[in-house]
Amino acid sequence: MPATIVVGAEWGDEGKGRAVDWLAADAEIVARYAGGDNAGHTVRVGGTTFKLHLIPSGILHPGVTCILGTGTVVNPLILLHEMDYLHERGIEVTPARLMIDARAHVITPAHLALDGASEAALGVEAIGTTKRGIGPAYASKMSRTGIRIHAMRDPEQFGDLLEKAVAEGSRALQALYNQPAIDAKALIGQYVDASRRLAPYIGDGVTFIQDALDAGKHVLCEGAQGTLLDIDHGMYPFVTSSHPTSGGALIGLGFGPREVDRVVGVAKAFSTRVGSGPFPTELDGPLGDRLRGTGENPWDEFGTTTGRPRRCGWLDAVVLRYATRLNGLTELILNKLDVLGGFETLKIAVAYDLDGKRTTALPYDLSALGRAVPVYEVLPGWTENISSVRNLEDLPEEARRYVARIQEIMGIPIIAIGVGPARDQVILP
Ligand code: GDP
Ligand code: IMO
Ligand code: MG
Repeated sequence: MPATIVVGAEWGDEGKGRAVDWLAADAEIVARYAGGDNAGHTVRVGGTTFKLHLIPSGILHPGVTCILGTGTVVNPLILLHEMDYLHERGIEVTPARLMIDARAHVITPAHLALDGASEAALGVEAIGTTKRGIGPAYASKMSRTGIRIHAMRDPEQFGDLLEKAVAEGSRALQALYNQPAIDAKALIGQYVDASRRLAPYIGDGVTFIQDALDAGKHVLCEGAQGTLLDIDHGMYPFVTSSHPTSGGALIGLGFGPREVDRVVGVAKAFSTRVGSGPFPTELDGPLGDRLRGTGENPWDEFGTTTGRPRRCGWLDAVVLRYATRLNGLTELILNKLDVLGGFETLKIAVAYDLDGKRTTALPYDLSALGRAVPVYEVLPGWTENISSVRNLEDLPEEARRYVARIQEIMGIPIIAIGVGPARDQVILP
């Protein structure tokens, strides 16, 4: 079986973690191809809720080997913390279960400091990053001054490289943001200790995956973030610094497009985004509050990584069509349909009105996006609680119509509908 890519079709937090958890049941390898611990993937299995930031959600399936691919950026301390977190919940992350590609890049203490300082300096124009050092880590990689994971195999040299990186970061902090030097002595010590513990996990992920594909194994590529957060194709500059789109999987793991036979988009039945930036279908006020939830339930819309309230709005089919073509989606998983119960009517944006003209193309510049007024199609809502429904036929007619309309607009099949956060709260049409 070849490779399947899972990609977020919106602004992240579409429920990719639980989608991967479903799809991993018949995968041998689950590999993250981009991003770092800016991600927060929630999977609920039985009574336990797992919140994962770095380690792929496939770790919850005992037979699966997980990989942090070339395209990822790794904070070694967060990784160790997550391994301990899983251990406390009965999952042992051994080197047989997790490989960190030697080519992936290290998030250093300098990256963390620079992320915070640049956001503070931007003031009201801040991107709203997760402050995990993601942007500065990718900037170092691109400017060819980054530290790759394989450096951790030699702890002494790794310590020297970190010291150099921190000194350079301190100079930048001082020059650009008038901030004092980073005091990272203790942190560097922790990083060096971490490198000793993580050394057995470092490997050639690219060859491992290519060999697995040659042997006919199923490789599931776990996306983080979402299409509209892509550095090239998202709403720049309110994006992350990597390629969460399907093309990113090929580069971020290291194989060719002929290996891929499925590209599974994950979307919510409504839209959300964390951080700043344009959001045409955003709902301020009581409707948005209702979609967000009160924070009492673990699935209410508050960031998994930062705890920030997520901005909520109606489903945006302009965005979904953009994601379908950009990623070459072959199918869609639609989560959180249950949350829409109780709305008298539901709206789907099918186009934008831009300066008096109707368009279905997503504008690429911020000012046009700011002026875009969604053109809505209005559908009837339903009142029933659908969280225990497991067959499509048992959904209220209005819910079926809502799903069918999304499928029609996107032109690809919807293969799973989430009706609650638990593993089994799903309808497989
Ligand atoms: P990811 O980053 O794409 O993996 O998504 P997150 O885990 O950050 O956010 C998705 C949230 O929605 C999590 O709290 C999930 O438990 C929850 N969730 C996912 N699917 C459903 C669903 O079908 N219904 C409900 N009520 N919650 C869901
Ligand atoms: P998952 O994998 C939602 C957003 C941040 C910010 C922008 C840049 O859980 O879907 P960064 O720290 O990456 O430099 O922040 O991107 N962002 C996410 N939003 N889900 C995520 O991951 C995100 N990862 C980054 O909120 O707007
Ligand atoms: Mg998330």
